[in-house]
Amino acid sequence: MTQTIQTRNRTHSQEWFERAQQSLVEGVNSPSRGAAVYTRGPIMLERGDGSHVWDADGNQYVDFMMSFGALIQGHAHPTLVKTVCEAMAEGSHFAAATSAEIEAAERFRRMVPSAELVRFTNTGSEATMLALRLARARTGRRKFLKFEGHYHGWYDPFLLNAHSHPPEQLGPVENPERIPDSEGIPASTFDEVVLAPWNDVNALERVLQLHGHELAAVITEPIMANMGCILPRDGYLQRLRELTRDCGALLIFDEVVTGFRYAPGGCQEYYDVKPDISTFGKALGAGFPVGAVAGLRSILERMQWSENMVLHYGTFNGHRLTMKVVTANLDLLAAPDTYRKLHAVGNAAIAGLREVFRRHGTKAIVQGFGPMFQIYFTDREAIHNYREYCEFVDAKRYSQFVHGLLERGIYMTPSNGLHWIISTAHTDADVEALVDAADQACSGLS
Ligand SMILES: Cc1ncc(COP(=O)(O)O)c(C=O)c1O
Repeated sequence: MTQTIQTRNRTHSQEWFERAQQSLVEGVNSPSRGAAVYTRGPIMLERGDGSHVWDADGNQYVDFMMSFGALIQGHAHPTLVKTVCEAMAEGSHFAAATSAEIEAAERFRRMVPSAELVRFTNTGSEATMLALRLARARTGRRKFLKFEGHYHGWYDPFLLNAHSHPPEQLGPVENPERIPDSEGIPASTFDEVVLAPWNDVNALERVLQLHGHELAAVITEPIMANMGCILPRDGYLQRLRELTRDCGALLIFDEVVTGFRYAPGGCQEYYDVKPDISTFGKALGAGFPVGAVAGLRSILERMQWSENMVLHYGTFNGHRLTMKVVTANLDLLAAPDTYRKLHAVGNAAIAGLREVFRRHGTKAIVQGFGPMFQIYFTDREAIHNYREYCEFVDAKRYSQFVHGLLERGIYMTPSNGLHWIISTAHTDADVEALVDAADQACSGLS
């Protein structure tokens, strides 16, 4: 157990939280920000600058959460602030064709290898639902395959086994128990979903032999980012590419988390695998709400106006202010050395944390590399999939550890299912602050 030290005054955060509960469900707008995760109640953040944030009581933190990964440039990057102010003064959005969306799309295509065309949405969830609709229209098939423990947004059919559960509830790996993540979804919705374990080529071959012919798509996070940070085994994504091609299912890479993070072109560039469709969000908008669907021209062109079109409307699609930010953000990311630095800072943080755990004899691993990683309190040397996460990871201990860090000036979600994010604003000094805080928080662990 972490010794409960409460050195930081949270009076104002607590007052705001009490007030919030009169007007907002659980006092927040997404359960992952609320009291279910932050046991002392959420910390109200009021200001950010670079890699730092300040809460309502004036406490300062180094932020390693970076708005669920959206803030790849950190907080209030001067170029982005200028871009937004100038664009806003000209009018935020016209819902008409604009040069802003064309410039953003050109940058996007330059960076993402598979993007013959791109369509902008407002969130990652919108992007994945559009990707699935496109895949169905292209193949004329209804079903799709999703993997256990993968999260693709809150659209009905994706909400199957996206949360962790006690291992005894998961059923046999060849025939996983199907556990909806939400009430309010008709059970029949899940008839169209084939569920499979991830990172296991044999299991994949088996399930595609049975169902491959009826699948419109296989959707995958190329690195599992919603059970912490779980890397694909060597060759797994490549084999997935071959097998989907063989059975005529489209391969959708959900790069909402990984896009623009590991390489300019995301995981598809990093692992050199070309999906048919890919989806983006988070880091694309550097803090502005945006998503994108990209892929083969012949697939995306199905949205062209015609009797047989795939429909995708949206008042805010290609929002002008957001498109200006996307362009400025992608220009910043395209600068030489950006990704080398992101990887170097992230790897230094990982190495520092590993050393802390080694020194303290703490049974914990740090998994991932460079710009994104997660800590697992476990006896295992690595976590390879959802089931191992559910069975071998001590998420309560992680939460206690992170609450210890929050008291020591490190801002991070206590939810083990998320992940640590390195932005271009993070420095060696931030890594030192993290390692020092981790050292102290570890001393409090039994
Ligand atoms: C892999 C993945 N896909 C899709 C989404 C949904 O994106 P959004 O929250 O922008 O709707 C998320 C959100 O965390 C995600 O992690």
